Amino acid sequence: MTPLHDRIRAVVWRENALELLDQRQLPGALLYRRLTDAAEVAKAIQDMVVRGAPAIGIAAAYGVVLAARARHVESPDHWRERIGDDLAALAAARPTAVNLVWALRRMERVIAQTAGDPAERLLTEARMIHEEDIAANRRMGGLGAALLGARGAVLTHCNAGALATGGYGTALGVIRRGYEQGLIERVYADETRPWLQGARLTAWELAEDGIPVTLLADGAAAALMQCGRVRWVIVGADRIAANGDVANKIGTYGLAVAARYHGVRFMVVAPTSTVDMHIPNGAAIPIEQRAAEELLTLGGQPVAAAGAEVWNPSFDVTPAALVDALVTERGVALAPDAEKMARLMAT
Ligand code: MRU
Repeated sequence: MTPLHDRIRAVVWRENALELLDQRQLPGALLYRRLTDAAEVAKAIQDMVVRGAPAIGIAAAYGVVLAARARHVESPDHWRERIGDDLAALAAARPTAVNLVWALRRMERVIAQTAGDPAERLLTEARMIHEEDIAANRRMGGLGAALLGARGAVLTHCNAGALATGGYGTALGVIRRGYEQGLIERVYADETRPWLQGARLTAWELAEDGIPVTLLADGAAAALMQCGRVRWVIVGADRIAANGDVANKIGTYGLAVAARYHGVRFMVVAPTSTVDMHIPNGAAIPIEQRAAEELLTLGGQPVAAAGAEVWNPSFDVTPAALVDALVTERGVALAPDAEKMARLMAT
């Protein structure tokens, strides 16, 4: 039994296969896809069946279990050499969310230590990655909620909820806990063009949990702040650099600029698996560019003038200087910078 406000699971290992809740179909249909090989998992990540940095990492870890099982059947003595291509395909599926390579590195360490049939040991590791993520989210929920202060409304962007993680969510974990504690009266959710993660996923998750949610067009967020309607912006992250710069869904940077201007506080909630201490600052974070069709069409229907070209970065970088609080499972960094990040990651 999952506790109140924690019922949704997007990534499930069931009867020797990976089942992913197809997030492209939400909220219209609750459909799980059953995947039995690593190439299918890489494609599901690329095609946004599963999305959100931690959920991508967890799905990839289960993908390694599927790859190892197949390679060991093919060649019990040489499966370790043969699995390299599967790992590379999984790693290349989406470039910005560092949780993907973080999870693969963990699985690779188990591969290096495993003789004989690897499936059981790798499945244990993938399950650990999954369970640790849920535990981290629950801890961050408590740490973030403790920062909220007086009761009020908050704004979130994209979906950093149960659907984007092993369960419970990062930004939505703080929101779930804050709501339980009576500190959050309402959540404003940006629609989040072009994939509409806010309209389709965040609004659905919150409505499922009975948390009041108001949807707004992305372009309305600054006006909402100007009206004094929100106290905090709370978002997740796809990669955080060693100086505290944050890559997250396109539009996050604009929210951080508007929040600072209007005196609204800005909170980033992410597990340490999202922190990349090898990257000195946000300028070095690879930003995924996605297909033009995502902007030129909506629900398969053309919505733009023929001949328009498209710039479609999936993420942007918010400088650390605009972040009031970075919440991780290891603790909180207020006004994060390189020194505070190093201290946090050393704990
Ligand atoms: O393109 P997406 O839907 O994978 O982007 C997701 C986000 O930007 C989330 O905010 C981020 O991954 C954090 S999820 C806990």
